[in-house]
This record gives sequence, structure tokens and C-alpha cells, in this order.
Amino acid sequence: MNHIAVAVDGPAGAGKSSVSKAVAKDLGIVYIDTGAMYRCAALFAIKNGIDAKRDPQSLISRLDEINIDIKNNADGQRVFLNGADVTDEIRTPEVSVGASDVAVIKEVRRKLVAMQRAMAKSESVIMDGRDICEYVLPDAEVKIFLTASVEARALRRYKELIEKGVDCDFEKIKADIEYRDHNDSTRAESPLKRAKDAVLADTSDLTFDESAALVKRIIKEKIQED
Ligand code: DC
Repeated sequence: MNHIAVAVDGPAGAGKSSVSKAVAKDLGIVYIDTGAMYRCAALFAIKNGIDAKRDPQSLISRLDEINIDIKNNADGQRVFLNGADVTDEIRTPEVSVGASDVAVIKEVRRKLVAMQRAMAKSESVIMDGRDICEYVLPDAEVKIFLTASVEARALRRYKELIEKGVDCDFEKIKADIEYRDHNDSTRAESPLKRAKDAVLADTSDLTFDESAALVKRIIKEKIQED
């Protein structure tokens, strides 16, 4: 396959990461989870006692101290913040909400977007996030908006956490998703929205395998068109 970029946007919990990861493995390209990068910035803020929502300037002044590495190996993707493996730590509900808060900060976005573009230049990727189709990779060969209803997304997250043995409350998860949807789609900088040229994939009524098959079909059809 020639060098390609697949851009996937969509709201929290739509299955972007798991579907993109599976598709990347199948197509032999690299998966880049841009949400994990915002989560690292949020974890950095939390660990350093910075309230990024009330005091964004404190985080902005320390952006140079944030080094993020995404390493793909046989066991999947591992995420490193300043050398420490934070793959699991960045998945807590506290970091999820924090990530949505740091993602409204223009300077944070500028730094992370530069890293994302550099990654997509060096190899074929499938990259997921909120602003990938229109802003990070506007020339991507394939653009997909992967979404699902709030109910379906909250239920998936709830089941995932219960399976991991994490004590959680469905209504709280749903409220967090609604908070993040609102925050992500109403912010001034690169708000979440479907790009005009992105193919809509609604997975509300699809299983994981069906969602991955749908995304693969979209990619294959797009590549054949070009
Ligand atoms: O996809 P995720 O849930 O891991 O993303 C965490 C937060 O980061 C989410 O609330 C929105 C933000 N984000 C963003 O603004 N732009 C991206 N490209 C990726 C994520």
C-alpha cells in the first residue's frame, strides 16, 4: 500500500480507538491515538497540582516539560509521559474530564498537533481524535466521522469499566460523556464536528466487529476510488 493517512473523528466513547486499532493491525499501518496525548497533558497537570481549567497559564508555562511517546509493539500501544508508562493511568474518569479541559487550551493544541502531523508524515497512519479530518490532516486520503448515540456510548464505557472491576455508576458515566460532548463541540479552538468530506459511520446498533468491518469497507472503497 502507498503512503496513506486515514483520519477518524468522533465523540467520546464512540469506539474510535478500539476500532482504529483493529483496522490498523489488519491493514499493517500505524495507529495514533491523539486523545491519549491530551490525556497525558491532563495527567501532567494533575500530577503537578495544576488546575488547568481555572489556571491555564500555569500549564502553558510548563508545556516544554511535557514529553509524550507513543510506542507500538506486539502487545499494542503503550503511552509514555516523560519516560513513565502511563497507558493505564490516563484512562481514569478524572483524567478523561481533565483531558477535555486541557483540550480547550490553544497552546496545548498547537504543541500536540505539530507532533501529530510529524507522525503522519513519516509513515502510513490511522489517526483518531476530534479535529483530525479538518485541521490536523486535511489532506488525508480517507476521512471518517465515527459516532454513536449518547446512551450506546455510555453503556459501552460502563461495561468496559465493570469488566475491568472498576466500581462505577452508569448515570455518572453518561453525565461525563455529555459534559465532554458539550465541551468538545462548543470550544473555540477546533471544535468537534463532522467534516463535510468525512464519511459518517454510526455504530449505535453495531457490534465491535461490525464497526471495524464498516470502517475497513469505507477505507477500501475510498482507496479504490482514488
Ligand atoms: O478520545 P479521548 O476520549 O481519549 O480524548 C480525550 C479528550 O481529548 C477529549 O475530551 C477531547 C480531547 N481531544 C481533542 O480535543 N482533540 C483530539 N484530536 C483528541 C482528543
